[in-house]
This record gives sequence, C-alpha cells and structure tokens, in this order.
Amino acid sequence: MELNGAVAVVTGGASGIGEAVAKSMAARGVQVVLGDMDPKGLERVAAEITAAGGSVVWSRCNVTSDVQVSDLMDLAISTYGKLNICVASAGIIKDGLMINLDKETGKVKRAMTTDQFKAVVDVNLVGAFITVREAAIRMANHGYQGLIVPISSVNKDGQIGQLNYASTKAAIALWPKILTGEFHSKGIRNIRVVAVAPGYVGTPMVKGMNQDALAGILQGVHIGRLIEPSEIADIIMHTAQNEAIDATCLEITGGLIANGLAK
Ligand SMILES: NC(=O)c1ccc[n+]([C@@H]2O[C@H](COP(=O)([O-])OP(=O)(O)OC[C@H]3O[C@@H](n4cnc5c(N)ncnc54)[C@H](O)[C@@H]3O)[C@@H](O)[C@H]2O)c1
Repeated sequence: MELNGAVAVVTGGASGIGEAVAKSMAARGVQVVLGDMDPKGLERVAAEITAAGGSVVWSRCNVTSDVQVSDLMDLAISTYGKLNICVASAGIIKDGLMINLDKETGKVKRAMTTDQFKAVVDVNLVGAFITVREAAIRMANHGYQGLIVPISSVNKDGQIGQLNYASTKAAIALWPKILTGEFHSKGIRNIRVVAVAPGYVGTPMVKGMNQDALAGILQGVHIGRLIEPSEIADIIMHTAQNEAIDATCLEITGGLIANGLAK
C-alpha cells in the first residue's frame, strides 16, 4: 500500500501508541481520522499534526458505541473519500489480583469485581471488535485496499494482576487468523488483518504503573528500556506497505526474558 494519500482511522488517537501512529502516518502523507474519548487530547494531537503540515480530522468516539464508531468510519469516507488503514488502539487497564488475602487472617479480604473485569473487556475487546467490524464493512463494500490493525499485547503467558486485560489481549491475538480465514473463504482479498503485540511501551498507560513494578519488569527486557511509541508506529507503517505481512500477530517486545529464555 502506498502511504502517501492513504486514509487511516486511529482509535485511542489522543494518547500513547495511537498518537504516535497518527503523527508518524500524517508525516508520511496519510490522511488521519482520530477517535478517542478524550476531546482535549484529540484537539492537541490534531493541532500538532496540522502544525506539522499533516491532514487530520477528529471526533469524540467511545469505541464501545456501535453508533459512534460507525460515525467515525463514515467521517473518514465523507472527509477523505476512502478508508485504507484502521488501527484499533483504544484501550484501558484496571489491574488487580482476582483475590487478595488479608495478611493477618489469611482469608480473602478483597476480590476483583465483575465491573472491574467487564470494564476492560468492554473497551479492549468489544470496542476493538466494533472498530474492526465497522472498518471491514466499509472496506468490503467499497473494495478499498485495507489493513486492519487491532492492538494486542504480551499474550501467551499473561501477567499476574491483569486477568481482565490479558484475557482481552490474548483473544485479539487470534483475530488475524480467524478473520483472514473468513475473508479468504468469501473471496475478500483486499483486506489484511495484522495484530500488533507490543511489550512495555513508554506511554501514559505504562508510565502510570507502579514504578517499582516497572523497574522489576524492565530487568527482564533484553533491550533494557521501554519501547518508544514511534517504534510501534514504524512497524505498523511498514506493515501497511508490505503486503506480504498478513494474517499474523507481530510481537514487538524488545525481548522479554523469563527463566533465562526469551518468551
Ligand atoms: N503501553 C504499553 O506498554 C502497551 C503494551 C501493549 C499493548 N498496549 C495497548 O496499546 C493500546 C494503546 O495503549 P497506550 O499505551 O497508548 O495507552 P494510552 O492510555 O496512552 O492511550 C489509550 C487511549 O485510549 C483512549 N480510550 C480509552 N477508552 C476509550 C474508549 N472507550 N473509547 C475511545 N477511546 C478510549 C484513551 O482516552 C487514551 O487516549 C491499548 O490497546 C493498550 O492495551 C499498550
């Protein structure tokens, strides 16, 4: 795919990975449509893209809303005439153990609530589903050359304290194969689905983590540092341009080590 002149919808575009993807793409001539819950962040990112000479529009969009996501995709087509790339980056964490024991009694004193589990599933899994579906509908109906990128995460082992989050990201890692199989069986050849599974990226989501826990995590990262959001953006732009990358989940972790071996 030629980046210059392509049209990309980026959810979660007001911060972190989504912001970096939007800015990097705009700098390469991609026309960008940003969706996020955070209008102030959207306004800031859009202003920075415009100031740098890029083309961008934005809309406040909660990815758990069918109507709002549908409207966001339509905004891309009404503004720029097509939709080529969809990066589903909106996501949240609500970390916690499933059950917490009281130190003195040894009995359970607190448990992850159903709402705490469901909130993450709603945004990260249902929201990503709605985003991917609404992009695919338009790419299929109009025959746009398309790339859909749901954002997974470290997804094979999960992480203690992230039962809710890891459940959503493990599921997303399966989507490229399931959806590509579906598209192939129906003769839909113009839509590629490639998930991206980052390790620990230096975004507000991670910078807000417990810093001691983060320092411990980084000891097990081969490159010894957080991944830059722009490094995730680079791989997504390369994927857009390289049609041979299809139906897979790309891990970009900086080398996560466990028991002496890379995972
Ligand atoms: N940062 C990391 O280390 C890391 C690692 C692996 C995967 N990821 C994934 O990458 C994606 C982006 O994460 P990030 O680190 O950039 O986080 P971030 O917090 O910087 O950005 C997430 C954005 O999503 C938006 N958002 C949240 N709920 C929303 C909703 N319901 N509708 C629309 N927008 C919503 C937020 O407002 C925010 O702008 C997430 O899916 C995250 O799970 C991040």
